[in-house]
Formats: sequence, C-alpha cells, structure tokens
Amino acid sequence: MSKIKLIFGFLTLYASILRTHAADTISANQILRYNQTITSPQETFELGFFSPPNSTNHYVGIWYKKISSGTVVWVANRNTPLTDTSGELTLTLQGVLILRDATKGNVVWSSTNSPTMSKKNPIGQLLDTGNFIVHEEGEGINQEDPVWQSFDFITDTLLPGMKQGWNLMTGLERRFTSWRSPNDPAFGEFSFWIDTRGYPQLILTKGREIKFRVGPWNGLRFSGMSNLRSNSLYNFTFVVNQREIYYQYNPIDTSIITRLVLQPSGRIERLVWIDSKQEWSLYMAAEIDHCNQYALCGPFGRCSIDKSPVCECLEGFQPTSPDQWRDTDWSQGCQHSVPLDCNPGEGFNKYLNLKLPDTRGSWYNHTMTLVECEQMCKSNCSCTAYANSNISGRGSGCFLWFGGLIDIRTIADDGDTIYIRLSASELESIEDSNSSSPGRRPIRIIVPMASVVLVILISIYLFYHFNRKKSNNRKV
Ligand SMILES: *[C@@H]1O[C@H](CO)[C@@H](O)[C@H](O)[C@H]1NC(C)=O
Ligand SMILES: *[C@@H]1O[C@H](CO)[C@@H](O)[C@H](O)[C@H]1NC(C)=O
Ligand SMILES: *[C@@H]1O[C@H](CO)[C@@H](O)[C@H](O)[C@H]1NC(C)=O
Ligand SMILES: *[C@@H]1O[C@H](CO)[C@@H](O)[C@H](O)[C@H]1NC(C)=O
Ligand SMILES: *[C@@H]1O[C@H](CO)[C@@H](O)[C@H](O)[C@H]1NC(C)=O
Ligand SMILES: *[C@@H]1O[C@H](CO)[C@@H](O)[C@H](O)[C@H]1NC(C)=O
Ligand SMILES: *[C@@H]1O[C@H](CO)[C@@H](O)[C@H](O)[C@H]1NC(C)=O
Repeated sequence: MSKIKLIFGFLTLYASILRTHAADTISANQILRYNQTITSPQETFELGFFSPPNSTNHYVGIWYKKISSGTVVWVANRNTPLTDTSGELTLTLQGVLILRDATKGNVVWSSTNSPTMSKKNPIGQLLDTGNFIVHEEGEGINQEDPVWQSFDFITDTLLPGMKQGWNLMTGLERRFTSWRSPNDPAFGEFSFWIDTRGYPQLILTKGREIKFRVGPWNGLRFSGMSNLRSNSLYNFTFVVNQREIYYQYNPIDTSIITRLVLQPSGRIERLVWIDSKQEWSLYMAAEIDHCNQYALCGPFGRCSIDKSPVCECLEGFQPTSPDQWRDTDWSQGCQHSVPLDCNPGEGFNKYLNLKLPDTRGSWYNHTMTLVECEQMCKSNCSCTAYANSNISGRGSGCFLWFGGLIDIRTIADDGDTIYIRLSASELESIEDSNSSSPGRRPIRIIVPMASVVLVILISIYLFYHFNRKKSNNRKV
C-alpha cells in the first residue's frame, strides 16, 4: 500500500515537473484560465489575462515578465473585452486559438485566419522574442510559415524581429494601430503602415487622413527621417522585393531592450528600458513638427522649419494662388513659372537636401542608372521628376514622379537630391541667376580690384620717376 502511495507521489511530482517545464506552451484542448499564464523559456515574456490601468475589462495579452511589469506588447481581444474573470483560452485540434466567455458561453475572439485543416498535434508556444506561435508539435518551429503567430498581428508595439509591412504572397498586412486610450486597447484612431500605391512608403494615418510620411527608403534611411541613423543600439532595414515589403529592426547588443510603440496620441516612440532606473526612456520620437504635417505647402512647395513663413515655392515655380499664398494658406501650392508644353528643350533642374515627395503614384526600378532614369522621365511628358532610388555607394535605381510633387521639406545637410522638369526658358534663367550667384562672383570682384592695383602701381611709378628727375636736377 505504501509502495503504491510512493509511486503515486512520484508520478504527481513528475507530472508537476513536466507541467512547470511545459509552462511555455498550451496544448490542444488545454484551457488557460483567468489566473493562469504561460511564460517563455527565459521568462522574458508572459501570456495571460490582464486588465489595463483603471479598467474593469479583461483581455488576453502578452507582456514583459522580468522587466517592467504591466507593459503589454500584444492584445488578442482588443475590441471585445471580457467583463468578468470567466475567460477561457483554448487551442482547438485544428490549431485555432479560441477565447470563450465561460459564463455567457460565447466566443469572444479567435485566431480566425488559421487554416481549419485538422492538425495532428497542434501546440501554442510563447517564444522569448515575444512571439506566440501555433505549430505542429515535434516539427520544429517554422517562423516563416507557422499555423498562426502573434507577430502577424501587430497591436501598437513593434518588437525586434517583427516585420511591419506586407507578405505579398499571402496578402497579409501587418500594421500598427494605436490603443484608443491608455486604459483601452481597442483600435484607436492612428495607424502606422506601408502604403504600396507607388513606391512603398511608411505613413501615419488618422482615420483616412494622412498625418505624416516617413519618406521613401533611399537605400540607407527614410528620406524624411534624418534622426533615424545607424547607431550602436539597433540596426534596421527596409525590404522591398517580389515576395514581401517590410520594415524591421534588431538590437545589436541583445542585452538592450527596446520597442517601437504607436501611442494613443499618434506619436511614434522608440523606448529603451533603463534597468537602473526601472523605467522606459524615450530614445527617439517621430515628431510631427510643423513641416512634417502632410502636404502643408501644397504641390511644388517646400517647407523649411527654420524659415518664416515655413513654405516657399521651389526654384522655377510660383504660387498657384498668390492671394491665398500671401494669407499663408499654402494648400494650393505652386505651379511652373513657365508652363510645360512637352517641348524637347525641356530639361531637369537639380534640387539638393530635400525629403523626397509623396511616392503614391510613383514608379520605380531598382537596377536602372541615373542616366537611364532621366531618359525614361524625359520620354514621358507626364513625368515631372526623377531621382536615384538608392543613394548608397555611387547611387543607383530610379524613382519617377507624375503630376504634382507633394510634401517636400528641407533636410539640412544630407537630404536627398531630386531632378524636376522645367521649361527650356526657365532652365536658362536659372542658369543666368546661377552665374551671378556666389560661385561666379569673384570674376566681377577681381576686375575692379585689378584696376585699383594698377592705378596705385602707376602712381608709385610716377611718384618715383618724378622724384628721381627732381634729385637728378639738384645734382646737376
Ligand atoms: C485568482 O487568484 C487569486 C489569488 O490567488 C484569488 O484570490 C482569486 O480568487 C483567483 N481568481 C480566480 C477567478 O480564480
Ligand atoms: C487611473 O486613475 C487615477 C485616479 O483617477 C489617475 O490618477 C491615473 O492617472 C489613472 N491612470 C491611467 C493610466 O489612466
Ligand atoms: C542586425 O544585427 C543583428 C545582430 O548583430 C544581425 O544578426 C542582423 O543581420 C543585422 N541586420 C542588419 C539588417 O544589418
Ligand atoms: C528595370 O530596368 C532594367 C534596365 O533598364 C530592365 O532590364 C528591367 O526590366 C527593369 N525592370 C522593371 C521591373 O521594369
Ligand atoms: C507615362 O507614364 C504614365 C504613368 O506611368 C503612363 O500611364 C503612360 O502610359 C506613360 N506614357 C508614355 C507615352 O509612355
Ligand atoms: C543599394 O546600393 C548598394 C551599393 O551599390 C548595394 O550594395 C545595395 O544592395 C543596394 N540596395 C538595393 C535595395 O538595391
Ligand atoms: C545651379 O547651380 C547649382 C549649384 O550651384 C547646380 O546644382 C544646378 O545644376 C545649377 N542649375 C542650372 C540650371 O545650371
């Protein structure tokens, strides 16, 4: 009898060891209840039920475990909160996660886009990256093509290794959407996503309205984000190919904990965990300064934050509506000072240090040279501008714009270069004004200076000549 008790005791112990060991997974038909969590192997992240501050609603989410208690990085049932503690999360044999309200008996949330094909042995596993992944047990984790993963459904936080953007093969889009408020993870007003109408670009939208463009990726960085540069904390990349389009970052030193978050206010913040202070510190924010307001200066206008007023027309352009422009309503923007008529004499003027314009409706080719790019633009009368799509090295690739150029700002020192189509006469007058610009001024200064020097030399000669004659006269 005591032997049986002992064996039974061992079995219970063994089972509990197995259980703690298996605390990073949920297996099919297992139920995760209100007070239970699963934890990633290194205890970096935890998944379970939570309530936001000052809220009586309950959600299934993922948060940091070792650091920063209460910092939620992912939420399952954002728009369908549980109002009591009777929630039950299960994984079906088909590999679908289902969140049920046990008192009401209804399904509150499910990972619907999962295939409904029956799995042999599906398992849900929380990784130390913060990714909750459903896969076939024993088959290893295929992060490229799992049954389902939380990384495919960004809430308001981009963690290292997450891809923000598009899987063009499946049509899946991963975009941030802000929480409605710090107490409510429901879909808020702001989204930060990649617009693929034209060359892919990251934009921040409020409802349907564009608030801010990061600017097209120029091979090294985003054209309008001069403060996002290579640094010692994390590296980042923007990938555009036939299969996918995404932005991604990774810490260079894995001891650094950082996240990118879209706040309910619409501010995009990069935060870094400071362990000694036990707090998140702001590393960088995409400030929506005056000039970052989308399309502030209208077509062919440029915004310079250190000028007053901030808007001016690009060289070769004049206000479309001079009265409105004078009243600082810049929305009509600027138009060519000499209208274009697709005359073969038309050419391109070079503009330096700019944030490249809105790429919606633009065209691109990553292998063309700048010369091919110019020819291509010149041969199409509706093409208004071109630029290299990759400024890395000697520059390569081609962007073409058609119609008005919108949302250009000055980026001091190292903005991008764009070539804009102008009429022959406009190009001539720019060349003329160029020749009287500081570069050529020395010639005009040298001539008068030379004459002054000549006059002085002649006077000195005459003076000595006269004096010598005088002294000679005395000797005689
Ligand atoms: C959760 O755990 C707390 C503390 O152990 C306990 O007081 C509470 O009754 C539990 N709630 C549920 C719903 O199990
Ligand atoms: C929660 O409510 C308290 C008291 O009303 C308030 O001081 C605090 O700022 C609130 N916290 C959040 C995150 O809203
Ligand atoms: C970023 O750094 C990580 C870690 O050093 C490295 O594995 C990764 O390849 C780097 N990515 C890029 C785009 O440089
Ligand atoms: C890009 O340009 C190269 C060189 O002109 C050309 O061979 C290639 O077909 C172009 N690609 C696309 C997608 O237009
Ligand atoms: C010029 O470019 C536009 C936009 O890409 C295109 O629709 C049009 O067919 C092109 N015209 C010519 C003559 O190539
Ligand atoms: C940009 O140009 C650099 C240098 O020529 C090259 O190494 C890189 O692969 C290019 N990037 C793309 C996306 O074509
Ligand atoms: C005017 O001068 C600038 C630099 O001084 C040069 O980049 C630009 O090409 C010139 N424009 C013309 C039309 O000569």
